Amino acid sequence: MTRYLLEALNVSVYYALKRGLLGGAIYDVKALDDVTLRIEEGESLGIVGESGSGKSTLAKCFAGLIKPASGKIMYKGRDIYSLKGEDYREYRRSVQIVFQNPHTSLNPMMRVRDTLKDVLKASGKWGKDGERKLAELMKAVGLREDILNMYPMELSGGQAQRVAIARALAVEPKVLILDEPTSALDVSVQAQILELLKSLKKTYGLTYVFISHDIAVVRYMSDRIVVMHKGKIVEEGPSSDIIENPKHEYTRSLIRDLIKLYAHIEEIST
Ligand SMILES: Nc1ncnc2c1ncn2[C@@H]1O[C@H](COP(=O)(O)OP(=O)(O)O)[C@@H](O)[C@H]1O
Ligand SMILES: [Mg+2]
Repeated sequence: MTRYLLEALNVSVYYALKRGLLGGAIYDVKALDDVTLRIEEGESLGIVGESGSGKSTLAKCFAGLIKPASGKIMYKGRDIYSLKGEDYREYRRSVQIVFQNPHTSLNPMMRVRDTLKDVLKASGKWGKDGERKLAELMKAVGLREDILNMYPMELSGGQAQRVAIARALAVEPKVLILDEPTSALDVSVQAQILELLKSLKKTYGLTYVFISHDIAVVRYMSDRIVVMHKGKIVEEGPSSDIIENPKHEYTRSLIRDLIKLYAHIEEIST
Protein backbone atom coordinates (compact mmCIF):
# COMPACT_ATOMS: atom_id res chain seq x y z
CA MET A 1 0.00 0.00 0.00
CA THR A 2 1.43 3.36 -1.04
CA ARG A 3 1.55 6.16 1.49
CA TYR A 4 0.94 8.73 -1.23
CA LEU A 5 -2.50 10.10 -1.86
CA LEU A 6 -1.72 11.69 -5.22
CA GLU A 7 1.22 11.23 -7.56
CA ALA A 8 2.28 12.60 -10.91
CA LEU A 9 4.80 10.20 -12.45
CA ASN A 10 6.86 11.48 -15.39
CA VAL A 11 3.95 13.56 -16.61
CA SER A 12 4.24 15.51 -19.86
CA VAL A 13 1.52 17.65 -21.43
CA TYR A 14 1.66 19.46 -24.77
CA TYR A 15 -0.78 21.98 -26.15
CA ALA A 16 -1.43 21.97 -29.87
CA LEU A 17 -1.24 25.54 -31.09
CA LYS A 18 -1.91 25.01 -34.79
CA ARG A 19 -3.20 22.32 -37.06
CA GLY A 20 -0.85 21.05 -39.75
CA LEU A 21 -1.75 20.92 -43.46
CA LEU A 22 -3.14 17.40 -43.22
CA GLY A 23 -5.00 18.15 -40.01
CA GLY A 24 -2.27 16.76 -37.80
CA ALA A 25 -1.66 18.62 -34.58
CA ILE A 26 1.52 20.62 -34.23
CA TYR A 27 2.66 20.52 -30.66
CA ASP A 28 4.29 23.82 -29.93
CA VAL A 29 3.90 24.28 -26.22
CA LYS A 30 5.36 21.80 -23.78
CA ALA A 31 3.34 22.81 -20.72
CA LEU A 32 4.67 19.99 -18.51
CA ASP A 33 7.95 18.28 -19.15
CA ASP A 34 8.47 14.97 -17.33
CA VAL A 35 7.09 16.11 -13.97
CA THR A 36 7.20 13.74 -11.00
CA LEU A 37 5.59 14.85 -7.75
CA ARG A 38 4.25 12.83 -4.82
CA ILE A 39 1.76 14.17 -2.27
CA GLU A 40 1.26 12.61 1.14
CA GLU A 41 -2.05 12.51 2.94
CA GLY A 42 -2.45 15.53 5.24
CA GLU A 43 0.37 17.64 3.90
CA SER A 44 0.24 21.20 2.64
CA LEU A 45 2.19 21.27 -0.56
CA GLY A 46 2.86 24.61 -2.24
CA ILE A 47 3.60 25.04 -5.92
CA VAL A 48 5.19 28.32 -6.99
CA GLY A 49 6.29 29.55 -10.39
CA GLU A 50 5.78 32.45 -12.76
CA SER A 51 2.81 32.70 -15.10
CA GLY A 52 3.06 30.05 -17.83
CA SER A 53 5.30 27.68 -15.84
CA GLY A 54 2.71 24.89 -15.98
CA LYS A 55 1.11 25.13 -12.52
CA SER A 56 -2.52 25.10 -13.68
CA THR A 57 -1.82 22.34 -16.16
CA LEU A 58 -0.43 20.19 -13.35
CA ALA A 59 -3.43 21.08 -11.14
CA LYS A 60 -5.82 19.98 -13.88
CA CYS A 61 -3.89 16.74 -14.40
CA PHE A 62 -4.26 15.93 -10.69
CA ALA A 63 -7.98 16.72 -10.84
CA GLY A 64 -8.48 14.49 -13.89
CA LEU A 65 -9.38 17.41 -16.16
CA ILE A 66 -6.41 17.03 -18.52
CA LYS A 67 -5.03 13.67 -19.59
CA PRO A 68 -1.22 13.69 -19.84
CA ALA A 69 0.37 12.85 -23.19
CA SER A 70 2.71 10.57 -21.28
CA GLY A 71 3.21 9.57 -17.68
CA LYS A 72 0.67 8.67 -15.02
CA ILE A 73 -1.51 10.32 -12.41
CA MET A 74 -2.02 8.01 -9.42
CA TYR A 75 -4.63 8.26 -6.68
CA LYS A 76 -3.95 6.05 -3.66
CA GLY A 77 -1.45 4.12 -5.73
CA ARG A 78 -3.71 3.46 -8.71
CA ASP A 79 -3.62 5.02 -12.18
CA ILE A 80 -6.69 7.28 -12.31
CA TYR A 81 -7.32 6.27 -15.92
CA SER A 82 -7.71 2.64 -14.84
CA LEU A 83 -10.35 3.43 -12.19
CA LYS A 84 -13.90 2.29 -12.87
CA GLY A 85 -17.36 2.75 -11.38
CA GLU A 86 -17.44 3.64 -7.69
CA ASP A 87 -13.61 3.80 -7.50
CA TYR A 88 -13.56 6.47 -10.22
CA ARG A 89 -16.40 8.41 -8.59
CA GLU A 90 -14.64 8.25 -5.23
CA TYR A 91 -11.48 9.71 -6.80
CA ARG A 92 -13.40 12.52 -8.53
CA ARG A 93 -15.17 13.40 -5.29
CA SER A 94 -12.02 13.19 -3.21
CA VAL A 95 -9.94 15.55 -5.33
CA GLN A 96 -11.56 18.97 -5.67
CA ILE A 97 -10.17 22.06 -7.33
CA VAL A 98 -10.79 25.72 -6.53
CA PHE A 99 -9.91 28.18 -9.30
CA GLN A 100 -8.64 31.74 -9.27
CA ASN A 101 -11.77 33.51 -10.39
CA PRO A 102 -14.96 32.46 -8.57
CA HIS A 103 -17.10 34.65 -10.80
CA THR A 104 -16.18 32.53 -13.81
CA SER A 105 -16.07 29.18 -12.01
CA LEU A 106 -19.57 29.54 -10.52
CA ASN A 107 -22.64 29.25 -12.72
CA PRO A 108 -23.96 32.84 -13.05
CA MET A 109 -27.50 31.61 -13.72
CA MET A 110 -27.81 29.68 -10.47
CA ARG A 111 -28.47 30.85 -6.96
CA VAL A 112 -25.86 29.72 -4.43
CA ARG A 113 -28.42 27.35 -2.92
CA ASP A 114 -28.97 25.53 -6.22
CA THR A 115 -25.26 25.34 -7.02
CA LEU A 116 -24.62 23.62 -3.69
CA LYS A 117 -27.76 21.49 -3.89
CA ASP A 118 -26.79 20.18 -7.34
CA VAL A 119 -23.37 19.13 -6.09
CA LEU A 120 -24.87 17.40 -3.04
CA LYS A 121 -27.44 15.62 -5.20
CA ALA A 122 -24.88 14.50 -7.78
CA SER A 123 -22.79 12.93 -5.05
CA GLY A 124 -25.75 11.26 -3.33
CA LYS A 125 -25.46 13.50 -0.27
CA TRP A 126 -28.77 15.32 -0.59
CA GLY A 127 -31.48 13.97 1.68
CA LYS A 128 -33.96 14.97 4.37
CA ASP A 129 -31.18 16.85 6.16
CA GLY A 130 -30.23 18.76 2.97
CA GLU A 131 -31.22 22.18 4.25
CA ARG A 132 -29.20 21.60 7.42
CA LYS A 133 -26.18 20.66 5.25
CA LEU A 134 -26.51 23.90 3.30
CA ALA A 135 -26.59 25.88 6.53
CA GLU A 136 -23.53 24.01 7.82
CA LEU A 137 -21.59 24.67 4.62
CA MET A 138 -22.32 28.37 4.80
CA LYS A 139 -21.23 28.46 8.42
CA ALA A 140 -18.05 26.53 7.61
CA VAL A 141 -16.97 29.15 5.06
CA GLY A 142 -18.09 32.11 7.17
CA LEU A 143 -21.07 33.26 5.10
CA ARG A 144 -24.51 34.34 6.23
CA GLU A 145 -27.32 31.96 5.34
CA ASP A 146 -29.22 34.53 3.29
CA ILE A 147 -26.40 34.38 0.73
CA LEU A 148 -27.89 31.01 -0.30
CA ASN A 149 -30.59 32.99 -2.10
CA MET A 150 -28.19 35.15 -4.07
CA TYR A 151 -26.62 34.87 -7.52
CA PRO A 152 -22.81 34.99 -7.91
CA MET A 153 -23.05 38.44 -9.54
CA GLU A 154 -24.49 39.83 -6.32
CA LEU A 155 -21.48 38.67 -4.30
CA SER A 156 -18.10 40.29 -3.70
CA GLY A 157 -14.99 38.45 -4.89
CA GLY A 158 -14.27 37.19 -1.39
CA GLN A 159 -17.86 36.00 -0.83
CA ALA A 160 -17.93 34.28 -4.23
CA GLN A 161 -14.63 32.52 -3.49
CA ARG A 162 -16.09 31.33 -0.16
CA VAL A 163 -19.01 29.86 -2.12
CA ALA A 164 -16.58 28.12 -4.48
CA ILE A 165 -14.81 26.69 -1.44
CA ALA A 166 -18.16 25.56 0.02
CA ARG A 167 -18.97 23.83 -3.27
CA ALA A 168 -15.66 21.95 -3.11
CA LEU A 169 -16.25 20.99 0.54
CA ALA A 170 -19.83 19.82 -0.11
CA VAL A 171 -18.68 16.44 -1.44
CA GLU A 172 -16.40 15.81 1.57
CA PRO A 173 -13.11 15.75 -0.36
CA LYS A 174 -9.73 14.56 0.88
CA VAL A 175 -7.65 16.90 -1.27
CA LEU A 176 -8.22 20.52 -2.21
CA ILE A 177 -6.22 21.83 -5.13
CA LEU A 178 -6.20 25.60 -4.73
CA ASP A 179 -5.09 27.21 -7.98
CA GLU A 180 -4.26 30.87 -7.20
CA PRO A 181 -7.36 31.02 -4.98
CA THR A 182 -6.63 34.53 -3.74
CA SER A 183 -4.83 36.07 -6.71
CA ALA A 184 -7.94 37.87 -7.97
CA LEU A 185 -8.81 39.33 -4.56
CA ASP A 186 -7.88 42.53 -2.73
CA VAL A 187 -5.00 42.09 -0.30
CA SER A 188 -7.14 42.34 2.86
CA VAL A 189 -9.67 39.84 1.50
CA GLN A 190 -6.81 37.61 0.40
CA ALA A 191 -5.61 37.36 4.01
CA GLN A 192 -9.09 36.42 5.24
CA ILE A 193 -9.42 33.65 2.68
CA LEU A 194 -5.97 32.28 3.57
CA GLU A 195 -7.01 32.17 7.26
CA LEU A 196 -10.24 30.42 6.32
CA LEU A 197 -8.33 27.82 4.28
CA LYS A 198 -5.92 27.20 7.15
CA SER A 199 -8.74 26.57 9.59
CA LEU A 200 -10.69 24.35 7.16
CA LYS A 201 -7.62 22.21 6.67
CA LYS A 202 -7.47 21.55 10.41
CA THR A 203 -11.20 21.01 10.86
CA TYR A 204 -11.58 18.54 8.01
CA GLY A 205 -8.10 16.98 7.97
CA LEU A 206 -7.63 17.99 4.34
CA THR A 207 -4.59 17.65 2.10
CA TYR A 208 -3.72 20.86 0.25
CA VAL A 209 -2.02 21.55 -3.04
CA PHE A 210 -1.71 25.32 -2.90
CA ILE A 211 -0.66 27.06 -6.09
CA SER A 212 0.47 30.66 -6.49
CA HIS A 213 2.91 32.82 -8.42
CA ASP A 214 3.55 34.58 -5.08
CA ILE A 215 6.24 32.83 -3.06
CA ALA A 216 5.27 34.71 0.13
CA VAL A 217 1.72 33.35 -0.01
CA VAL A 218 2.93 29.86 -0.87
CA ARG A 219 5.34 29.90 2.04
CA TYR A 220 2.60 31.04 4.42
CA MET A 221 0.33 28.19 3.33
CA SER A 222 2.72 25.28 2.84
CA ASP A 223 5.02 22.91 4.71
CA ARG A 224 6.77 21.90 1.52
CA ILE A 225 7.37 23.92 -1.65
CA VAL A 226 7.86 22.85 -5.23
CA VAL A 227 9.28 25.44 -7.64
CA MET A 228 8.19 25.18 -11.27
CA HIS A 229 9.89 26.82 -14.21
CA LYS A 230 9.10 26.27 -17.89
CA GLY A 231 7.13 23.09 -17.29
CA LYS A 232 9.68 21.46 -15.01
CA ILE A 233 10.14 21.14 -11.27
CA VAL A 234 13.46 22.88 -10.65
CA GLU A 235 13.58 22.63 -6.86
CA GLU A 236 11.62 21.18 -3.96
CA GLY A 237 11.98 20.88 -0.22
CA PRO A 238 10.67 22.05 3.17
CA SER A 239 9.40 25.64 2.90
CA SER A 240 12.03 27.08 5.24
CA ASP A 241 14.89 25.48 3.23
CA ILE A 242 13.55 26.81 -0.05
CA ILE A 243 13.22 30.34 1.33
CA GLU A 244 16.42 30.48 3.36
CA ASN A 245 18.68 28.43 1.17
CA PRO A 246 17.42 28.35 -2.41
CA LYS A 247 19.60 26.25 -4.70
CA HIS A 248 18.23 27.07 -8.13
CA GLU A 249 18.90 30.43 -9.78
CA TYR A 250 15.22 30.79 -10.65
CA THR A 251 14.17 30.32 -7.00
CA ARG A 252 16.80 32.88 -5.98
CA SER A 253 15.32 35.35 -8.42
CA LEU A 254 11.83 34.80 -6.91
CA ILE A 255 13.20 35.50 -3.46
CA ARG A 256 15.14 38.56 -4.63
CA ASP A 257 11.86 39.94 -5.99
CA LEU A 258 10.22 39.21 -2.66
CA ILE A 259 12.94 41.04 -0.71
CA LYS A 260 12.67 44.01 -3.09
CA LEU A 261 8.90 44.04 -2.55
CA TYR A 262 9.30 44.07 1.24
CA ALA A 263 11.87 46.85 1.02
CA HIS A 264 9.49 48.81 -1.16
CA ILE A 265 6.61 48.33 1.29
CA GLU A 266 8.83 49.47 4.15
CA GLU A 267 9.91 52.51 2.15
CA ILE A 268 6.39 53.65 1.30
CA SER A 269 5.08 52.99 4.82
CA THR A 270 7.73 55.05 6.64
N1 LIG B 1 -5.50 25.64 -23.54
C1 LIG B 1 -4.25 25.98 -23.89
N2 LIG B 1 -3.87 26.01 -25.19
C2 LIG B 1 -2.61 26.32 -25.54
N3 LIG B 1 -1.63 26.61 -24.68
C3 LIG B 1 -1.93 26.59 -23.37
C4 LIG B 1 -3.26 26.28 -22.89
N4 LIG B 1 -3.27 26.34 -21.54
C5 LIG B 1 -2.02 26.68 -21.18
N5 LIG B 1 -1.21 26.83 -22.25
C6 LIG B 1 0.22 27.15 -22.23
O1 LIG B 1 0.88 26.16 -21.46
C7 LIG B 1 1.87 26.75 -20.62
C8 LIG B 1 1.55 26.45 -19.15
O2 LIG B 1 0.35 27.11 -18.81
P1 LIG B 1 -0.33 26.99 -17.37
O3 LIG B 1 -0.35 25.58 -16.95
O4 LIG B 1 -1.61 27.72 -17.43
O5 LIG B 1 0.74 27.79 -16.47
P2 LIG B 1 0.55 28.61 -15.10
O6 LIG B 1 -0.68 28.12 -14.42
O7 LIG B 1 1.81 28.33 -14.34
O8 LIG B 1 0.45 30.06 -15.49
C9 LIG B 1 1.89 28.23 -20.98
O9 LIG B 1 2.90 28.42 -21.94
C10 LIG B 1 0.52 28.47 -21.54
O10 LIG B 1 0.55 29.54 -22.45
MG1 LIG C 1 -2.34 29.18 -13.69
